[in-house]
Amino acid sequence: MQKEIVVSGIRPTGLLHLGNYFGAMRNYVRMQEEYDCYFFVADWHSLTTHPDTKALRQSVLTVLAENIAAGLDPEKVCLYIQSAVPEIAELYLYLNMLAYKGELEKTTTFKDKVRMQPQNVNAGLLTYPVLMTADIIIHKAKFVPVGKDQEQHLEIARNFAQRFNHRYGELFPEPKAFNFGADLVKVPSLDGTGKMSKSENQFATLYLADDDDLIRTKIRKAKSDGGPAGANTEMPDYIQNLFQVMSLVSEEDTVKKFRDDFNAGTIRYGDMKKQMGDDMVRFITPIRERATEIRKDEAYLKKVMDRGAEKARESARKTISEARSLIGLNYL
Ligand code: TRP
Repeated sequence: MQKEIVVSGIRPTGLLHLGNYFGAMRNYVRMQEEYDCYFFVADWHSLTTHPDTKALRQSVLTVLAENIAAGLDPEKVCLYIQSAVPEIAELYLYLNMLAYKGELEKTTTFKDKVRMQPQNVNAGLLTYPVLMTADIIIHKAKFVPVGKDQEQHLEIARNFAQRFNHRYGELFPEPKAFNFGADLVKVPSLDGTGKMSKSENQFATLYLADDDDLIRTKIRKAKSDGGPAGANTEMPDYIQNLFQVMSLVSEEDTVKKFRDDFNAGTIRYGDMKKQMGDDMVRFITPIRERATEIRKDEAYLKKVMDRGAEKARESARKTISEARSLIGLNYL
């Protein structure tokens, strides 16, 4: 039976953190067994917000290495760099003729970015959802494993796919967001506010590249209380968050012991954080070391990128040739 097609894009701006790992990455790793996956580094997209490309090469190779280290297997999934597949840009061009300025201006992410970079409201920023649609439908993907923040983009992608089909003839399925339901984990930030992310407080986010000392320090500084609040008191949000982060990497029994201590009013946060630090280091260190090894092996990374581009282009070329003939661009 033909496997269903999945596409997702990984932004090369910033290192992978625990939130990415337990949110998106783990879904990717699970999907690679059951689906025909195309995962790519979205370097073109990054130009909309990061016009200075001095650090681009380093970022792209690092994000690639980190994703492989975290479990993406280039033997199982098609792993490629967006700019290695020029057919995406061609599809982007066709879709741009079907996208209206008014609807693009209403997109939440566009409005956010206008606020964040008023000095650089470029057309690429406005048409970001058009490029994202091209990324997805170039492989006729059915599923896109992304979080809630991308839902509006996916709705736009479905509109554009439908519009193409209407205008020129049936070609694209309508892509849907995909996740393993209840398993989609939000990792809370260590300062007790919101979730771990690269734009928030850097000390409250654990990166897969953090060294052992930094991991332990960040956890030691996480928001907690000086001591127990008494037996059977209600657990404040920031302590719940601490337990939630702990349960990602510590044994169930260990988490239970500290929960019991909390309920008994005997918890010692210093001990809990020491344990969390140890368990977090045990979890992150092998990934970090693997990522460092892979990052150093540029010959290997080149092989991965070449092979990924070849497979992605094969699929993209097929779609583009169908799109061209439906539009009527095949003259002789
Ligand atoms: N917009 C996505 C993000 O901000 C990245 C992305 C670009 C993407 N193209 C995509 C995700 C295609 C899924 C499919 O994270």
